[in-house]
Amino acid sequence: MKRFEGRVVIVTGAARGLGRDYVRYFAQDGANVVVADVRDTQPAAAEAASEGPRCIGIEVDVTDRGSVETMADKVRAEFGRLDVLVSNAGLWRGLAESGLLDCPDELWDSAWSVNVTGTLRCFQAAVPLMQEGGFGRVVNVSSVASRRSGNAHGLTKNAVERMTEGMAREVGDRGITVNCIAPGISAFEAAQGQIAAAESIVAGNTIKRVGTSRDLYEAIAYLCGTGGDWITGQTVRIDGGAGIG
Ligand SMILES: NC(=O)c1ccc[n+]([C@@H]2O[C@H](COP(=O)([O-])OP(=O)(O)OC[C@H]3O[C@@H](n4cnc5c(N)ncnc54)[C@H](O)[C@@H]3O)[C@@H](O)[C@H]2O)c1
Repeated sequence: MKRFEGRVVIVTGAARGLGRDYVRYFAQDGANVVVADVRDTQPAAAEAASEGPRCIGIEVDVTDRGSVETMADKVRAEFGRLDVLVSNAGLWRGLAESGLLDCPDELWDSAWSVNVTGTLRCFQAAVPLMQEGGFGRVVNVSSVASRRSGNAHGLTKNAVERMTEGMAREVGDRGITVNCIAPGISAFEAAQGQIAAAESIVAGNTIKRVGTSRDLYEAIAYLCGTGGDWITGQTVRIDGGAGIG
């Protein structure tokens, strides 16, 4: 028996990057997966579908309540249940180096809108579906940036971590846990060229390598599997020991 056999999993921001790898791994672990993204979801959905169970792509803008509710309706119609939500959709490209003094309004607004409001909207739409089955696992996605960046990126990821605690408190009695992962620089191909100081940041890690999508997925899988049954409201830092001195 595969560890997520029969489960239905939504991963937002899964058209590319880390999310695209997560849906493939969930599919390999037996889950039915929903690739949810504002971009074209079909290539990622086809890739995950080749791993086994049912896999669909749903185009969604996580910042838009109506769009997120439509996604939940489609999942109900297609699968009749929802077990896992990974709120991975997030903005960091172009944000990581921006400061506060000259932060363009558009950058500030989009960071809060996608990283914080988007995470909230998906939670709000997922809980009623999960509640119907009396089981749910929500994993939000923060970043190592929450620890050391007082900019739009770091602040929004801080908000995701605090919001995770509030969410967990509200749904614990419904069979739903809510946790958060805070990755360090991962999947270097993507990070390289986007973060000028990526190499020196990695040099500051305790474990001196970049993270992989597999490193992150194993933590997600733990939180969503039976090992995570009594873990809620927590942020797991998966960053090679960045920032521990
Ligand atoms: N890559 C890293 O090193 C790293 C480190 C720490 C945290 N993270 C976090 O992990 C997550 C994934 O990172 P990534 O590197 O794969 O990013 P990415 O930019 O490659 O992918 C993000 C995905 O989110 C989607 N998205 C953006 N806005 C959306 C919206 N409004 N609605 C729906 N989808 C939307 C994008 O289309 C994209 O497919 C992000 O939350 C990021 O902050 C990444």
